[in-house]
Amino acid sequence: MTTSRIDTLVILGAGGDLASRLLLPGLASLLASSRGSNIQLIGVDRDPLTAAAWGRRIGTAFAGVESQLSDRVRDSSLYLQADVTDAEALARVFAAAKGRIALYFALPPAVTVLACRTLATMPIPDGTVLAVEKPFGTDFESARALNRLLQTLVPEEQVFRVDHFLGKSTVINLLGLRFANRIFEPLLSAQNVAHVEINFEEELALEGRAGYYDRAGALVDMIQSHLLLVLALATMEPPATVASEDLRGSMAQVLRATRAWKKDGTESRRARYTAGKIGRRKLPAYTNEAGVDRVRGTETLAEMTVAVDNWRWAGVPFVLRSGKAIGEPRQEIVFTFRDVPHLPTGFHGPSRQAQLRIGLQPATMSLDLVTNGRDDPFDLECDTLDAEFGPSELSAYGEVLAELLDGDPTLSVRGDIAEECWRIVEPVLAAWRADRVPLDAYPAGSRGPRSWH
Ligand code: BG6
Repeated sequence: MTTSRIDTLVILGAGGDLASRLLLPGLASLLASSRGSNIQLIGVDRDPLTAAAWGRRIGTAFAGVESQLSDRVRDSSLYLQADVTDAEALARVFAAAKGRIALYFALPPAVTVLACRTLATMPIPDGTVLAVEKPFGTDFESARALNRLLQTLVPEEQVFRVDHFLGKSTVINLLGLRFANRIFEPLLSAQNVAHVEINFEEELALEGRAGYYDRAGALVDMIQSHLLLVLALATMEPPATVASEDLRGSMAQVLRATRAWKKDGTESRRARYTAGKIGRRKLPAYTNEAGVDRVRGTETLAEMTVAVDNWRWAGVPFVLRSGKAIGEPRQEIVFTFRDVPHLPTGFHGPSRQAQLRIGLQPATMSLDLVTNGRDDPFDLECDTLDAEFGPSELSAYGEVLAELLDGDPTLSVRGDIAEECWRIVEPVLAAWRADRVPLDAYPAGSRGPRSWH
């Protein structure tokens, strides 16, 4: 496998929102930690942009980074006006690049496919890494077709399917917590765990992203991609190493064992926000947001239950939930433990089951311990041990970019994993399309539909 460093990062779609909101700031966070300063950056887009305007765009993203480092990257950077679906234009991009190239498709999915088809007709410099953003396909079949197309271009190790959740320090922390401690791993199995929730609720609403989100919805935007990967890391068997083959192999193995709880996809819920308020911010109903087509019935809050059919997890329901415009949002993995096999007679309680909660944002952990009550020692209570983890130096995008620039695919989604994630959600998508699950409503700023609590 080639894992040598990348010399040139080409951003296709450099004028877009993704480049300015996430990629360039991600690169800035890398530079701030003194990495990536030798990279040559090439921005490519359809619109004309002067070198000075491109330099200013980079400068804005790099504000706060030590100037010597950011100046070096900015001064060696180029902007090329080009149609990424045109072979001659792409050949010009390759000719301008130095050494080993990463081609980052910061483009709408349909344009990415067209650009890949163009690449299939031309020589691609050896070692080129292709970085593809989510959504990776729009269903199982299209994800498979995209994988087949990518396979004709470069080897799998050179395809980097970006999912920034794999770069979140808390998500990576899950591996350390599980596999570098003796106390958690033996407990995490059906023998001890009654059910698991993986929650990623947000206060953020549509934020002007109707063009993409109204076709995706919460299930595809968050559960199909990010939360199933978190599930894989939370449930997989210990890998022998954290190198890409072992880590991604373990993730793929557990995802192959994962399925919708009910075959017909009806163990799921969906809802959409109506007008409301988050803090002082007034939000219109989702259907009144610019660009939303109310006929589509897109959900902004999704929940599905999955089963992991293997020795360790058989019978344990995993509830994955994600929603927008939620008040008091929770972003955590919650393992709820079973009761002890026998509570010595004479003890009472505790009133709830003990939990291990791993906060995804902020990075926290809390573990309930059942202890004697203060008033009556035989009345048991839950006391909680809390821990906070220090923030990572790099943003999630910075972390993913660091791996990309190292030419290491460990934090990228392997092709078969992307396909499994689609397979798992398909029964739910089908049930929703056929209206077998009602679309509930909740006021923006609430904790979701009242009937869900
Ligand atoms: C993105 C989704 O992938 O992840 C967004 O498209 C979501 O809808 C975001 O808001 C959440 O991730 P983060 O890291 O920004 O909290």
